[in-house]
Amino acid sequence: MNAWNVTFQLDPAGKDPLFLQVAAAIRADIQRGRLRPGAKLPGSRTLARTFSVHRNTVVAAYEGLVAEGWIEASEARGTFVSRALPVAVPRAFAGRRAQRAQVPDQPGFDLAPAPVPVDLARTPAGAIGLGVGVPDPHLLPVAALTRAYRRVLRHQPRSILSYGDPQGHPRLRSALAAMLTATRGLATGPEEVVVTQGSQMALDLIARTLVRPGDVVAVESFSYPPACETLRQHGAQVVPIPVDQDGMVVEALEEAARRTRFRAAYVTPHHQFPTMVTMAAGRRLALLDLARRTRMAVIEDDYDHEFHYEGRPVLPLASVDRTGVVIYVGSLAKILAPGLRLGYVAGPRALLERIAAHRSLVDRHGNQAVECAVAELLEDGEVQRHVRRARRVYRQRRDFMVAALRRELAGGLTFGVPPGGMALWVEVTGVEVEAWTRCAFRRGVHFHAGSRYALDGKAHPFARLGYSSLPEEELAEGVRRLVAAFDDASRRSGEPTPST
Ligand SMILES: Cc1ncc(COP(=O)(O)O)c(C=O)c1O
Repeated sequence: MNAWNVTFQLDPAGKDPLFLQVAAAIRADIQRGRLRPGAKLPGSRTLARTFSVHRNTVVAAYEGLVAEGWIEASEARGTFVSRALPVAVPRAFAGRRAQRAQVPDQPGFDLAPAPVPVDLARTPAGAIGLGVGVPDPHLLPVAALTRAYRRVLRHQPRSILSYGDPQGHPRLRSALAAMLTATRGLATGPEEVVVTQGSQMALDLIARTLVRPGDVVAVESFSYPPACETLRQHGAQVVPIPVDQDGMVVEALEEAARRTRFRAAYVTPHHQFPTMVTMAAGRRLALLDLARRTRMAVIEDDYDHEFHYEGRPVLPLASVDRTGVVIYVGSLAKILAPGLRLGYVAGPRALLERIAAHRSLVDRHGNQAVECAVAELLEDGEVQRHVRRARRVYRQRRDFMVAALRRELAGGLTFGVPPGGMALWVEVTGVEVEAWTRCAFRRGVHFHAGSRYALDGKAHPFARLGYSSLPEEELAEGVRRLVAAFDDASRRSGEPTPST
């Protein structure tokens, strides 16, 4: 088995001799898959204590089970469940299921409607991943993070390993507030920040706080599927508003708002997700004005603020919000790593108290040790140094990718150079994008068709190509495969569909 003490129970109403009852209990556990082929069984002394029987009873039970072929005993190694079990073993042991405990596949009760699963980040095994645009984990200051984590646990075990504040550890809230004030122009103190497990949890908590079933929420017509699905799960009707080269067409939202009461708008003004354009200044002001007049919340997802390569980053809507309409959502997924699951919300204090109240019901609070360790890295400037370095690297990779695609696929792709972010948004001509993704899958490179992000569910001639996580050699290989797949796609169609 493993390092746990295995518990067994005898049937209290059992009439058979004890050694037979012990053997029956073990046999039953083998048959139902709890004890798997090859699993180590406890020694006879331990098992005798477990069953509260004499050791000789267990020895007799084991002898019987060995004779029947259920278990194998070796003086040197101990007693194990047989790898070749008797034929009486249920069919569930055959084939792949032999490795799994026999838990029913289906629950014995009905489930509520399923959410649409949105896993954008998964790259098929062995493929070059040009999917979403994620940070390169090799750049992360792992040694500094490890040291900080160890220090936190060593010096403050009592407070760190106990229950904490649902708003997030005060140290990280202070460090984030300092970052938001310095780099994003927000007038935010630690009380105006809630730390979450990634911005996905922030979006979920915001939806809990804001949305009542039937509420209408505006989103960009190409948008971030996990955000849209979360809003829908909380009962929102999600209405797409067109996006052009200046971000969400706020004029179209104003027009729609004459007929519809919008509870909220979910927007990505800095680097529009997935098209990467920046919202124009006039539209920003118009959006804030519309929000103020109609009491509409603006959920501003500023997921990769630091990774802006042309001039200074544009300050968030939240930095000029004087009427408390903006809910600002950020993430450390791009600054550090998505696996750390750190995000945050900044906004009016009463909103944050409500969010924290919801959070206390979801998981009480976050991982305080990780929050504190990352706070330390922010306090001593480690994160800032990392961001400066990563920004240089990602900018070079963007330029490398742009040059390679312009050289190798000039006839098939049209795109502008995005001012920031971790991916390119390209218009595709000459092949159907879905066919290209299928051919790419066969060639061992993975990227997303733009239609994945379209709210109208239609096919669109766009693709998103992430570049940030891979060194130039791998990007070059990825582009070679993209070119080969492009040629394949222009020659044939109708392959089986992998997930694109
Ligand atoms: C639009 C958008 N929002 C937020 C995030 C970050 O999500 P999380 O912090 O939950 O990892 C991403 C990451 O890809 C994103 O693309």
